[in-house]
Amino acid sequence: MELVQLALRGRVAVATIANPPVNALSAGVRAGLAEAVAKAGSDPAVDAIVIAAAGKAFIAGADISEFGKPPAAPILPDVLEAIETSAKPVVAAIQGVALGGGLEVALACHARVASPAARLGLPEIKLGIIPGAGGTQRLPRLIGAAKAFPMMLSGEPVSADKAAEYGLVDMVALGDVVEAAAALALDLASKGAPPRTADRMEALTPADREAFEALAADATKKSGDMPNAMALIEAVRGVFTLPFAEGMAAERALFRTLVADERSKALRYAFFAEREAAKVPGIEASVKPRPIAKAAVIGAGTMGGGIAMCFANAGIPVTLIETEQGQIDNGMNRVAAIYEMSVTRGSLTAEKRDERMALITGAVGLAAAHDADIVIEAAFEEMGVKKQIFGALDGIAKPGAILASNTSYLDIPTIAAATKRPQDVIGMHFFSPANVMKLLEVVRPAGVADDVVATAVALGRTLGKVPVVVGNCFGFVGNRMLAQRTRAAERLLIAGALPHEVDAAVTAFGFKMGPFAMSDLAGNDIGWRTRKSLGKKAAVADALCEAGRFGQKTGKGYYLYPAGARAGQRDPEVEALIARVSAERGVTRRSFTADEIVARLMDPMVNEGARILEEGIAARPGDIDIIWLNGYNWPAWRGGPMHWADTVGLDVIVKRLEAQAAESGDATLEPSPLLRRLATEGKGFSELKAQAA
Ligand code: 3HC
Repeated sequence: MELVQLALRGRVAVATIANPPVNALSAGVRAGLAEAVAKAGSDPAVDAIVIAAAGKAFIAGADISEFGKPPAAPILPDVLEAIETSAKPVVAAIQGVALGGGLEVALACHARVASPAARLGLPEIKLGIIPGAGGTQRLPRLIGAAKAFPMMLSGEPVSADKAAEYGLVDMVALGDVVEAAAALALDLASKGAPPRTADRMEALTPADREAFEALAADATKKSGDMPNAMALIEAVRGVFTLPFAEGMAAERALFRTLVADERSKALRYAFFAEREAAKVPGIEASVKPRPIAKAAVIGAGTMGGGIAMCFANAGIPVTLIETEQGQIDNGMNRVAAIYEMSVTRGSLTAEKRDERMALITGAVGLAAAHDADIVIEAAFEEMGVKKQIFGALDGIAKPGAILASNTSYLDIPTIAAATKRPQDVIGMHFFSPANVMKLLEVVRPAGVADDVVATAVALGRTLGKVPVVVGNCFGFVGNRMLAQRTRAAERLLIAGALPHEVDAAVTAFGFKMGPFAMSDLAGNDIGWRTRKSLGKKAAVADALCEAGRFGQKTGKGYYLYPAGARAGQRDPEVEALIARVSAERGVTRRSFTADEIVARLMDPMVNEGARILEEGIAARPGDIDIIWLNGYNWPAWRGGPMHWADTVGLDVIVKRLEAQAAESGDATLEPSPLLRRLATEGKGFSELKAQAA
């Protein structure tokens, strides 16, 4: 099938792009578009041209999979120039998303018609680049830099109505968008030379420039370390200082530099890894998810309340179940307060808040779960409690209902064995705060029904999450790897580093918070309790907890938190305690560079990631990366721990781990067989094939 089909509608030539699934502008589409415009341009039976698209998307942008390869002619800016300089008017008929290069196609047209559900945006910033086919030059010329710049800086698309208000689209067509575009195109043809976006200067007033510069100054303060944000400012400023052709050349040069940058490569890798993670090995696309019209959440604590909010936000009624009315009241009040905060901040209307609150019903006793299609247990993290709840649920939940546990560590098959329907029992591990964090670990124990896994994944997406299917093991993928980092951080303290040095190295790496600041925030007693239950020890962390230093909530932990302080302060008492532990172990303390700290923290995580792959707990290295990017705030532009390891070189990581293992005498630091094998073969994780989780 032709990627671009040309058909006549009276005296209008309609070029329809058909490149499923999202009409990305592959080399074939670019060539097809150029050919269609040239053909229609020279056809005496044609007065005007419409660019339309088949399927749910208008055009999702450049074909991201072509980035990094030598550009194949015709390149997009040249195709768009041919459209813009066409003597016959060209109108875009936008029936779905017009993103990136897709919107740039529309911007090069002489007018734009959109259907009400269309969404228009330039999301390049999220891929570490900037628009590279005139977006930075044409969008400001059309709607002013003060409106165009925030669209490109956030990368968020706008609705058709908003686009009409901005003057980005000329018309929102309620009926057939191609027909409306054709009528507009003929109308333009009757008026003579079509208006070219490149020539339009009326929006670029001194007031517009002033407003843009204020926004640019603000963005520099907030995103000064993002090279593409700075490049965006430079490119957009060009609309005021450079003729169109020079502005286009400047944009292209900046675009090319950014595309070649490792940071953009990592972001593009993550884009595809996230989509790959949606495909669950061993589960055919034909497996139908079970319908979920009603949910129940057991436990109205912070986690349970957050999960209930996810359902309410997606329009699914949910019953929040507790053992006492008082706990329900507390939980509901917490939920109400969070919604209230969104209303105050202006991100939620009062009407929406009321709608969402009305979808959450509190109830005492498990019997209230009788009509739920899915029950998610978010009760106390103790096997006895879980077994009792699931045993009781077995007698209450309707046949076919999915019984999920939000446990972060515990064995799902043991929980499932408390029921007579283990095929319906699955893990759905949300991350705190559940209404905010994108990650959902879907824990797939042996014996769970395929359609239950498919339902958990589909539901995750409905709830706005990024679901990743993992196998059953202690701590699953994310927390199992995190445990390695936590142990490594403690080892670093004993070897000579101080908490603020470790945290500074980790934030410089790109995390928002270091491990010790994080532990102080979450409460050091949580890890302490877990260690005690597992019979494990951590000399420094245990000593802090024994001294009641649970973190921020007690005013002191690894740091001091005097009343009113915004960040933790170094505490000589803690530093003396650490030195004491080192001395007791006969360790001569030494200093560490930030790079050494990062290596000592991250390498053991990568090693654990390799073991997780060996055991088939994660299907692909990319799945592990998506978990870390969406659940643990791993810096997006570093692409996740496994991608990062590939950029460092697995041979380097193997050598560093061997040295750490020798120094500490800890055999768990020995490189895993998979890591060794890949390093020996000179390969990276990216070269591994997917396996069934
Ligand atoms: N290039 C290549 N493949 C793309 C693509 C793109 N721009 N956009 C989507 N795809 C692929 C996905 O990888 C996926 O493939 P798969 O089925 O093999 O896994 C398939 O299309 C469907 O994508 P989604 O699963 O994401 O489908 P959704 O319906 O959930 O979302 C979408 C559709 C909103 C279009 C979303 O895919 C999206 O946001 N795409 C990226 C948009 C983007 O960033 N565009 C800018 C590109 S850069 C650019 O244009 C540079 C220019 O300025 C020169």
